[in-house]
Amino acid sequence: MRLLGGVAVALALALGAAGSAHAQGGPCGAHPWCDRSLSPDRRAALLVDALTPAERIGLLAGDKAGGVAGAAGMHTGDADGVPRLGVPPLHLTDGPVGVRQGPSTAFPASISLAASFDRRLAGTYGGAVGDEARLKGDDVVYAPTVNILRTPLWGRAFESLGEDPLLTSSMAVAWIRGAQRAGVIANVKHFAANNQEGAPGPGGSIVGNRFSVDARVDQRTLREIYLPAFEAAVKDAHVGSVMCSYNRLNGIHSCENKALLTGILRRDWGFRGFVLADYGASKHIGPALAAGLDFEPWPFADADGGENLTPAAVSAAIAAGRTTQAAVDAAVHRLLRTLFATGFFDRAPYADTPARIDAAAHRRIAQRAAEAGAVLLKNDHALPLDARRLRSLAVIGPDADRYVNGGGSSDIVPLSFTSPLNAIAARAGARVHVRADTGDDPARAAQVARRADAAVVVVADSAAEGTDKPCLGLECGSKDAVDRDKLVAAVAAANRRTIVVLETAGPVLTPWRHRVAGLLEAWYPGEAGGPAIARLLFGDADPGGRLPATFPRREGDLPTAGDPKLYPGVGGIVTYGEGVLVGYRSYDQRRVRPAYPFGFGLSYTRFALRGLRVRAARRGAGVRVTVDVANRGGRRGTAVPQVYLGLPSAPGRVQPPRQLKGFAKVDLRPGRRARVHLALDARAFAYWDVHRHGWRVAPGCYGLWAGTSSRDLGRRVPIAAGGARCGAGAARIAAGTVSG
Ligand code: BGC
Repeated sequence: MRLLGGVAVALALALGAAGSAHAQGGPCGAHPWCDRSLSPDRRAALLVDALTPAERIGLLAGDKAGGVAGAAGMHTGDADGVPRLGVPPLHLTDGPVGVRQGPSTAFPASISLAASFDRRLAGTYGGAVGDEARLKGDDVVYAPTVNILRTPLWGRAFESLGEDPLLTSSMAVAWIRGAQRAGVIANVKHFAANNQEGAPGPGGSIVGNRFSVDARVDQRTLREIYLPAFEAAVKDAHVGSVMCSYNRLNGIHSCENKALLTGILRRDWGFRGFVLADYGASKHIGPALAAGLDFEPWPFADADGGENLTPAAVSAAIAAGRTTQAAVDAAVHRLLRTLFATGFFDRAPYADTPARIDAAAHRRIAQRAAEAGAVLLKNDHALPLDARRLRSLAVIGPDADRYVNGGGSSDIVPLSFTSPLNAIAARAGARVHVRADTGDDPARAAQVARRADAAVVVVADSAAEGTDKPCLGLECGSKDAVDRDKLVAAVAAANRRTIVVLETAGPVLTPWRHRVAGLLEAWYPGEAGGPAIARLLFGDADPGGRLPATFPRREGDLPTAGDPKLYPGVGGIVTYGEGVLVGYRSYDQRRVRPAYPFGFGLSYTRFALRGLRVRAARRGAGVRVTVDVANRGGRRGTAVPQVYLGLPSAPGRVQPPRQLKGFAKVDLRPGRRARVHLALDARAFAYWDVHRHGWRVAPGCYGLWAGTSSRDLGRRVPIAAGGARCGAGAARIAAGTVSG
C-alpha cells in the first residue's frame, strides 16, 4: 500500500512536470482546480470562481451540531461541502488529549505532556491523536490548547501546557508536526488570551465568563507571554488552522479582532491557513469577515444572540450592506487554499473506521507519556516500593479505583482502563496483602493504613471547561463529600510511610506535604494511568516529569491573588496587570517561596550538572550553551537540564529575574554522562519594544543559569550585549533589532 502510494505520488509529480492535464484526476476529478501542478492559491481561485455566490456562503459554516456531544460516529464539526462540484465534506474533531468521538485512546492531560519536557514524546502523542482522528474520518483536530496557565484556578488547566511560553511553544510545535504528519490539519487554540472560564459567582453566575470577558493585555505581555506559542505554531510547525476564542481581547471579540487575525497572525507571522471560530464565538458577521475569520463549525446562533456565519445570516448581512460577497469569497479562498495545500482534495475522504486504530500501540504511548509526565515532588526514602520486602500495602482514597479526567471538550471516553488500585495490586503480587479503602471515612482509612507497611493515598481534584475552580484546595469544586486533605492528614498520622498520588488538573495546595513521606503528581493520567502509577511507585520507571507550573504554598501567593481586577475581573473586564510576571516569573520577582517551583521534580537517581560553557554564536546572534549531565546514582533515570536567562530591566520595563530559554531531556544509565548543547538565538535575548513594534536586544548585562529547576541553579554566567561591560570572560552578543 505504502509503496504504491509513494509510486503514485512520484508519478503524479512527474506527470505534473510533463503537462498539467495529466496531473488531474484521482479523487478530485477532472475539474481545472484538480490540477496538482498548480499552486494551492491558483487552485482555490479556480474553485471559488466555479462556485455560485450561495455555494460560497454555504462554505462559511458547519452544517451539523449533534457531534459536540462526543458520540461515536459523529464528528465535533461537519461541513457538507459542495457535491455538485465534488467538494467533499469536511470533518472536524476535538481535541488536545484524544479524539472526542466515541471511545478513543485517552492520553494523559496536556499538562502532563508539558511536564514531560520531552519534545519527541509530544510529537509521538500528537501523531497518535492525529492518527486516531484520521481513522475516525476527521480532517481537522481542534488541538493543541496553548493558552498559558495564568492561574491554576483555570477550569482548563489540565488542557494547557503550563505557565511558560517556551515550554508551551516547544510542546505545541512538536504536537502539531506529529498530528499534521499523520494526515490531519491541526487547529491551535484558543486565539487569544483565553486564560479563564470565569469564577463561580452568586446564584450560579460566572464572573469573568469566557464567553464575554474582555482580557486587557498590554502589547508587550501579549507578545512575550500569551502569543509565542501561537507564533511558533505558525512559523515552526506550519499549523493549518487557528481557532479564535470567545473572549474579547482589549475590547474586541477575538473572532472579529483585525489586529489579531490579520495584523499579527497573517501580516506579522505570515499565516497561510484558515481561522475558525470557537463554538459560537463569532459575534458580528461584518466585523468577523473583515477581521479575517474564515469558518465557523457551529451552525446555530448562540445564547447571547451573537451572529453566526450561517447562510441565512450571511445572506441577510450582505443584503443589509454589513458585509460583502468579496469578503465571503476571500474567507472561502483561504479555507480552500489550505485544503488544497494539505492534500485534502487529492486523496480519498477519510473513513470513520475506528476498528483500524492500533489501540494497543496507542495505549503504550499513553502509558509512556503518563510515566514521562508524572512528577515526584517528595521522597523521604518512601519510594520506590519493593514488592519483595512489603508484606502489606494500603491503597486508599476515593480516586484510587476510578478514571479521573477533565470535563468539557477534552472529556475522552477511554478505550480501556485499569485503575491505580488494580494496577498496584497486580504489580505488588499475591505475596503482598493489599487492602483498599475508599477513604470516605478518614478514621476508618487511618485504621487500614496503620496496619500496613506503607499507605498509598490516591486523591484527585475536579476541573472542567465552563467554570474555574472556586479555590485551590483539593476539595474545591469537588463533586462528593470526601474531604481529601483531611483524609491525607489522617492517613499520614497513622502511617509514616504514606505516599500521596495526586491526580489533579494543575497545581493544588498541599497543606499536608510536610507530613507525608512521598508525593507523586500524576495529573489526569489517561487510560493507562493506573499501570503507569504502579510502575512509578515500584520503580519500574523513573518519574520523568518536572513541574510545568508553580505549586504555591497558599492561594494568596498566586500572581493574580488579592485583586479582583486581575482575576476574575470586574465589570466584565479582566486586567492582566501583572504583565509579563506570570507563573514563576512572578514568584521569583516577588521573592515568594513556592511549595514546589517550576521545573522541579525528583528522580530515583541523582544527577549532577557540570561544565557549563557559554559562547557567542556567529555574529553575536545569541549564544551556544553546553553543559554536562551525569547520572551519579545507582539507577537509570531521566534528567531535565534547564537554562534560564535574566534580561536587564530598565525604567518602565520590568524584567522577570529569570526566564526559561532552553531545556533538554536526557535518559542516562548509572555512571553515564551526556553533553547537552542548547542554542539561544537572538530572539531569546529580546523583549518586545512597543515603540518600535518589534523585538529588540537591549544593551546591557544578561545572566544565564543552568539548573534542575527554576530554583535550583548553578552560578550566574554573565553575557554582555551591545558592548556592555559585564565582567571578564563574558560572552559578547549583539544588541539591537531582531527580525522575526
Ligand atoms: C471549546 C473548544 C472546543 C469546542 C468544540 C468549545 O466550547 O472551547 O475548545 O473545541 O467547544 O467542542
